[in-house]
Amino acid sequence: MIVTSLIDEPELAGRLLREGKLVAFPTETVYGLGGAIYVAGTVEAIFRAKGRPSDNPLIVHVHRPDAVGAVAANIPRAAHELMEAFWPGPLTLVFPKLEKVPNTVTAGLASVAVRCPGSPVAREILRHCELPVAAPSANRSGRPSATTWQAVWEDLEGRIDAVFQGPMCQMGVESTVVDCTQPHPVLLRSGGITWEQLREVRPDMLELVQASEMVNSPGLRHRHYQPQAEVVLVEKPDQITPDRAYAMLTLKPHPEASLFGSYKQCDSLEDFAVSLFEFFREADRRGLKRIYCQQCDNTGLGRAIIDRLLRASSQEKD
Ligand code: TXA
Ligand code: MG
Repeated sequence: MIVTSLIDEPELAGRLLREGKLVAFPTETVYGLGGAIYVAGTVEAIFRAKGRPSDNPLIVHVHRPDAVGAVAANIPRAAHELMEAFWPGPLTLVFPKLEKVPNTVTAGLASVAVRCPGSPVAREILRHCELPVAAPSANRSGRPSATTWQAVWEDLEGRIDAVFQGPMCQMGVESTVVDCTQPHPVLLRSGGITWEQLREVRPDMLELVQASEMVNSPGLRHRHYQPQAEVVLVEKPDQITPDRAYAMLTLKPHPEASLFGSYKQCDSLEDFAVSLFEFFREADRRGLKRIYCQQCDNTGLGRAIIDRLLRASSQEKD
């Protein structure tokens, strides 16, 4: 068992990372569990701390866009345009990797996923570290992602070296992942940057279903985002019979909201996204049995929300 410290100075977080320690830190999407990829043994330690299957590769984080050259072998034109439009921000791009990027980071793939986060605190920590930092979401594998430092603590205390006490994450869903190693960019995971925003910059962008034969998207195989409680998607939340053992996360009001064990009505998709994972975790803390979530439209941020809800509700195990 490791003694986990709570820290709040970016300089210290950066120094610990540079020494090969595991440090969880806030980004604008969710908290990340950071480890410097060029310090021997660190990447293996990330997989151990999370209990993550070793065939699911990690995203490398850099403090500024031009630092992408520390891990990527070449930057295709499409990627330049996407970086120009959305970095720093909640977009991860997949590039051919430099030889020296450890195979443990990429789960043996010839490509590497990179992101320059929008959160100023995250970039400050990365700047102090001076090395590229792999950072999967800072949760035990399979569990809902963490959007507060307390949620990180709940999952990883005793398993990592430090947790940075930052603010609650502003977006609440992870970054969008786009593969830039193909002739046309391919959306691998919906997230904070929407499909519509991507298509404005690259009208040739493909969805995974259109490109599935040629593209490798390892992250889609595994169990994800699941609370202990059963997650049930509903079209008409106002028709559900309330119960103290149930939670409800909805956009439409329920006429008997106070009869649920936990209830939140969101006023926008942004609010839904930022509430989602913490709502799941709170339902588990209260020992609730079932979480009803309103099915939203598959546009804008709704696309990322539906993806998370479908995977949280699936009974698939690792
Ligand atoms: O918002 C985020 O992206 C957060 C914060 C901490 O930055 N990180 C995050 O990491 O969500 P993680 O490990 O939970 O998700 C990484 C995703 C997985 O779906 C993984 O399969 C995909 O990125 N990925 C990583 N490297 C890849 C590669 N070389 N090719 C294709 N997909 C890759
Ligand atoms: Mg994750």
